[in-house]
Amino acid sequence: MRRGIIIALDGYSSTGKSTFAKMIARKLGYIYIDTGAIYRAITLYAIDSGFIINESEINTELLLKSIKEERISVYFRTLPPENKSCTFLNGANVENEIRTLKVSGLVSIVAAIPFVREFVDIILHRIGQEGGVVMDGRDIGTAVFPNAQLKIFMTADPEIRAERRLKEMLASGENAKFEDVLENIRKRDYMDTHRATSPLTMAPDAILLDNSHLTLDEQLLWIEQILQQKQII
Ligand code: DC
Repeated sequence: MRRGIIIALDGYSSTGKSTFAKMIARKLGYIYIDTGAIYRAITLYAIDSGFIINESEINTELLLKSIKEERISVYFRTLPPENKSCTFLNGANVENEIRTLKVSGLVSIVAAIPFVREFVDIILHRIGQEGGVVMDGRDIGTAVFPNAQLKIFMTADPEIRAERRLKEMLASGENAKFEDVLENIRKRDYMDTHRATSPLTMAPDAILLDNSHLTLDEQLLWIEQILQQKQII
């Protein structure tokens, strides 16, 4: 049985939430859950199943049917040699596929669908019920676990975020232009903050972290102080 609190790490896309969340999880011996990866995997499923109409609309009826018929299973596995956490969709490792621009361009539409959010929340509640978990996402501290004992909200300048995302994409072998990545980030910021269901917003009891000009070491120092103050370490 896992022990520990739930740490909710929400914020804008490409603010380094996953790197930071992994650092915290390692420090505390908690598990780390990338909740955006679940929305991305569902988006990939919708693309591969031909549910995308006109490049920007989705056939929600067919997606709902797939969910009801339990045709979509998303889970995480840590794979050797690097012990990297990988996202599996119906048994296939889709960790790289879910990070492409195509998926990034459509994921906000999928994540705005209420029944998709309900489906993801069920998965997250199951994982979170035993505690000892760091979850990064958009609505963890506001909607999924509003009673999370520690909430952090991350932000950074869009240009800096676009540079970081571009680097990640080039490293994983995907070709992309800075302008396209920046546009995608701005579009997602807008959609994430303006959707009707669980829009991205800072919980009143969250602690703000703007890491535009902070190194990873500086962020680690920042969180160590908070963990000490809250007597978590
Ligand atoms: O963190 P990310 O960029 O991989 O997230 C992908 C998309 O999923 C993003 O556009 C917002 C959405 N998302 C969400 O709505 N709620 C979450 N808890 C996590 C992600």
